Parts: sequence; structure tokens; C-alpha cells
Amino acid sequence: MNSIKNEILHVAIIMDGNGRWANARALERLKGHAKGAERVRHIVRASLGLNVTHLTLFAFSTENWRRSEREVAGLMSLFRAYIISESAKLQLNDIKVLFIGDRTPLDPKLIFLMDELETLTKSNDALTLTIALNYGGRDEIIRATKQIVKKVKLGELIENDITPEVFSLHLDTGSLPNPDLIIRTSGEYRTSNFLPWQSVYSEYVFEKVNWPDFNNSIYEKTIKEFKSRNRRYGSAK
Ligand code: FPP
Repeated sequence: MNSIKNEILHVAIIMDGNGRWANARALERLKGHAKGAERVRHIVRASLGLNVTHLTLFAFSTENWRRSEREVAGLMSLFRAYIISESAKLQLNDIKVLFIGDRTPLDPKLIFLMDELETLTKSNDALTLTIALNYGGRDEIIRATKQIVKKVKLGELIENDITPEVFSLHLDTGSLPNPDLIIRTSGEYRTSNFLPWQSVYSEYVFEKVNWPDFNNSIYEKTIKEFKSRNRRYGSAK
């Protein structure tokens, strides 16, 4: 366990461009995703050395089901393989793993592995690694709203209890701080339904490289750029 608690630094990443990386090399898209999974391993490790306390990765969106059956199945087996191959290392490195997103349509065997990894790592505190799997910001907000409505009906909450803080606690990210920095790779300038509620004061960095080429030195440079920005949260200078 870390005895000195770092200042919070929450980095969230939209890992885009695996398909283009593969196309550019005449490889099939799944090869790009496999290379992307390799990058995830490196970036998680690098985060520990960069004083990142929270790392949130957009692995599969609620819209990604529209991809071919082969690609979806390939991604699901990559997630499964990642959990199986990484859990011991994650535990050894004091990394806590959380999953956000709607688990209900996922394969029960994958859900079992996700639950197991969350339980195994729940007391770790060097880094909180959150993997967004079947995640969509609007879907998350609707699910949170439904939970709140249920509580109001049961008399567990009253209308005036519903503040931004209480609402935040009902989101999948209820236990997490808001992201400080959101990185998107592959030169696309969109936020794509990723953490819409949580990102209102986040800084964005859009990187040109595709995710499989997002190496540790680009990561370090991105964090440096973020640290040079003046965050005002709506106040005067
Ligand atoms: C976007 O690239 C990437 C994804 C939809 C999948 C992200 C998944 C990984 C990086 C694999 C492993 C993840 C974990 C957490 C083990 P794209 O396919 O949309 O690329 P394109 O826009 O170039 O087609």
C-alpha cells in the first residue's frame, strides 16, 4: 500500500484508431485491437510512474454492438483474455480495478471474471483502473435517474435531496473523482458519449496518433501539457 497519498490525477482515455492502425498495415481490425490491448498494459504501468491516481479507459461503447459479429466477439474475447492474463499483475502492483457500463447484456462468464477481479483488487490503492465496458454516458444517466425515481417512490429520497452530488453518487462512477484530463487518440475531435456528466470541467487533449501508437513518451508529454493549463472551473483568473 502507498503510505503517501498522491494528489488526485484522473486521466480518462478514448482509445480510438485501432481499426485504422490495422487497415494501414493491411491487417484485420482485430489485430489492431490486439495491439491496442498491448498498449493498455504499457499505459497502465506508465500511469503508476506518472502519479496518475485514476485511469479510466473506454473499451467498448453502447454503440459498438453495431460492429460486425466477428469484431464484437473478438473484442469480448480480448477483454476476457486481458482479465485472465493481467489479474495477478494488477493485484501485485496494488491496482484496483472497476468496471463501468451496463453489464446486463454481457456474457455471464465475462461478468463473472469482471466481478472476481473487482473483488480481488478492491482494497488496492496505488491506482484505480476503471474499464468502461458497454458504457454510454446517456445510458448511465438514464440508469441513475431510474434508481433515483425508485428511491423517491420508496420514500428513501425526497425531491429536494436531488442535488448534483447526490445524482453523481448514482452514476456508475459514484466512487470516482471527475476526470481531470480526457485524451482521445486518432485525430478525431469528438467526445462520443464518454463521461458527459463527469467531464464538464475536464481538460481535453486530442492526439493524432492511433491508439496502438500511443506510446509512453506521448503519454508523458500529454500529461505535461495538461499540467501547464490554467484550470479555472468557471471562476475569474
Ligand atoms: C476504437 O478503435 C477502439 C475500440 C472500440 C476498442 C478499444 C479496445 C481495446 C484497446 C482493446 C483492449 C482493451 C482492454 C481494456 C483490454 P476503432 O476500432 O474505432 O478504430 P477506427 O476508428 O480506426 O476504426
